[in-house]
Amino acid sequence: MRKAAASTAGYGENAAALAQQYESLRFEDVHRDVLHLFPREPSNILDIGAGSGRDAAALARLGHRVVAVEPTGELRREGQRIHAALPIEWVDDSLPRLSAMRSRREHFELILLTAVWMHLDATERPIAMNSIAELLAPGATVIMSLRHGPVPQGRRMFDVSADETLALGRAVGLADSYCGQRKDTQGRDSVSWSVIAMRMP
Ligand SMILES: C[S@@+](CC[C@H](N)C(=O)[O-])C[C@H]1O[C@@H](n2cnc3c(N)ncnc32)[C@H](O)[C@@H]1O
Repeated sequence: MRKAAASTAGYGENAAALAQQYESLRFEDVHRDVLHLFPREPSNILDIGAGSGRDAAALARLGHRVVAVEPTGELRREGQRIHAALPIEWVDDSLPRLSAMRSRREHFELILLTAVWMHLDATERPIAMNSIAELLAPGATVIMSLRHGPVPQGRRMFDVSADETLALGRAVGLADSYCGQRKDTQGRDSVSWSVIAMRMP
């Protein structure tokens, strides 16, 4: 039987080039639609699927305590090298269970999943939403972006809608706080994004 592709397929082999691509984008541009939802006070922030750590670094510079979860070792090491001067805690863990993070029994005021959720299949997504809810502090926000468009060769991605994601969030007690669509920050015509935010009451 053929083994199913992992959610991280295609990232390790191209880590250096991908890190360069991710680092060429500005945090303020990637998150422009939801910047008003980021905490203003120094907070505990968890960036899941942090990639090269572009957002983790921007948030650490703003004075937040940032934990960056990244399961692709090659990308994690790129991030550690590029942002070595910043106090980012890098953790090797992965959705849907986030076993390492959940075992710490910590809570976060913001959880960020930028361009990650569509890598999870339909069985993994409800489990992942449950794991995220367990890590949110009361009043905390989760911000996600979902990619729509052709699947790059060698990657594993699914056609995931904002509606389904918001419904999964409601099922674990989260309230909708933002839902919008935007064009691709890298200017690719065939790619668009849903941006959603949910809040733990
Ligand atoms: C398109 S990249 C986005 C990286 C970064 N968030 C950014 O916006 O630049 C997707 C990231 O999701 C990570 N990823 C894939 N499957 C994952 C999983 N099951 N759990 C956590 N991260 C995952 C990949 O390793 C990769 O770093």
